[in-house]
Amino acid sequence: MPKPKTRYVCSVCGSAQPKWQGKCPDCGEWNTLVETIIAEAPPGRVGSPSASPAGVGPLALPDIAADGYERIPVPIGELSRVLGGGIVPGSVVLISGDPGIGKSTLLLQLCAVLAEGGTDRAGAGRGPVLYVSGEESASQIKLRAARLGIASPNILVLAETHLESISAHIEKTQPRLVVVDSVQSIYSDAIQSAAGSVTQVRDCAAALLRLAKSQTFPLFLVGHVTKEGAIAGPRVLEHMVDTVLYLEGERFHSFRLLRSVKNRFGSTNEVGVFEMAERGLVEVKNPSEAFLAERLPNAAGSAIAVTMEGTRPILVEVQALTSATAFAQPRRTGNGVDFNRLLLVTAVLSKRARVRLSDQDVFVNVVGGLEVEEPAADLAIAAAIASSARNRPVAADLALIGEVGLSGELRSVGQLSRRINEAAKLGFTRVLVPKTVARKLERSPAGLEVLGARTVREAIEMALVPAAPGDEAG
Ligand code: TYD
Ligand code: MG
Repeated sequence: MPKPKTRYVCSVCGSAQPKWQGKCPDCGEWNTLVETIIAEAPPGRVGSPSASPAGVGPLALPDIAADGYERIPVPIGELSRVLGGGIVPGSVVLISGDPGIGKSTLLLQLCAVLAEGGTDRAGAGRGPVLYVSGEESASQIKLRAARLGIASPNILVLAETHLESISAHIEKTQPRLVVVDSVQSIYSDAIQSAAGSVTQVRDCAAALLRLAKSQTFPLFLVGHVTKEGAIAGPRVLEHMVDTVLYLEGERFHSFRLLRSVKNRFGSTNEVGVFEMAERGLVEVKNPSEAFLAERLPNAAGSAIAVTMEGTRPILVEVQALTSATAFAQPRRTGNGVDFNRLLLVTAVLSKRARVRLSDQDVFVNVVGGLEVEEPAADLAIAAAIASSARNRPVAADLALIGEVGLSGELRSVGQLSRRINEAAKLGFTRVLVPKTVARKLERSPAGLEVLGARTVREAIEMALVPAAPGDEAG
């Protein structure tokens, strides 16, 4: 056993320094270096399952066998899509998100569907599914499982935080899938620093990862996030694993988005949409429909934007409210929109479209807890604000797509035809887009009329309809 040495490990980026310093030279954060005793571990190999076995020299490209890894199918479509179409055996997935967002629920549901599926070749002949919980007791997990209607004898629950015991159980049970909830709660005797410390988290994760690679079972790790939203513990965790997923959503809304920020076996553009219901996370197959379900057509201050979540167009309702300010400086408040874009849009509206906002507080909200940061939503934001300020609704059958420029001009955005198709699918009959692209879009999807506007001022005139008191049509 090589002798341990003292290092100063940054709790933000995980870099190790020989001497203590006030500022981490790698990430520039202050006061993050922690004295840590490091036992030099034998150099372990950390790589993807397809990495060549030790001793094989370099190969010419044509001589390398095409990778034939067979994915384990995941019957939860939204999850499968985000993973890149199933689970690659031996792959390691880190899933993180705010406390209470539904990580444990999602993983227990994954265990349930994989415990049942014995037909796939990749997972055939393998043992049970192993759910290791370092935070909750086995009976707490049982309670959650009961709520989710899960009672498979093929799911083993292990309430354990000791790495060596976990490894022993994995060796013994030969599981087809292992979930570790959470990686921050695991500690190892071989590491001489406090449980939960950067070194512990990093080295325990590395040990589990090596086990997953050598025994080719897929491993799902739950990772906590810090207040700032980064995965707690060293950044190296994200570099080590194959896939990093974030489960996001607002606490008080039921929609949850599963996003991949890194994926060695798939695209990082995919987003899965779920809804937290009474019995766990339910897939939302048609997000646009869900996000528009409670819309009041013909209400002033509401407009429909078409935003892209990865490669998927989603229709969302943008709501705005303007009200006379009680302050010297009127306030702008945005929820689900990019604050700087909101300021830009309100300034352009005042200056270029003669919407008087200098004495008005402006509140903008994206319904359903979705975050819309794309400039493509500018036009809908502008229309919603103008609609509230003038107390005239936006036409109920109209979707709005376009970026607003500083001169008040409308600018085109990417993937326009996909967005328009989605609007047509949802029953919208007209779509308002920048004039430059409207001309090119003569053949629009069946029945959809494409309107073009050159400026935001023109667009607002076209979008707003006269207020009709008592008109409940929709
Ligand atoms: P959980 O999976 O424990 O979150 P995490 O592991 O990310 O901390 O989910 C906790 C929340 O989800 C909790 O507030 C209750 C809610 N929930 C439901 O609404 N329905 C359900 O079926 C379950 C199991 C949980
Ligand atoms: Mg949990």
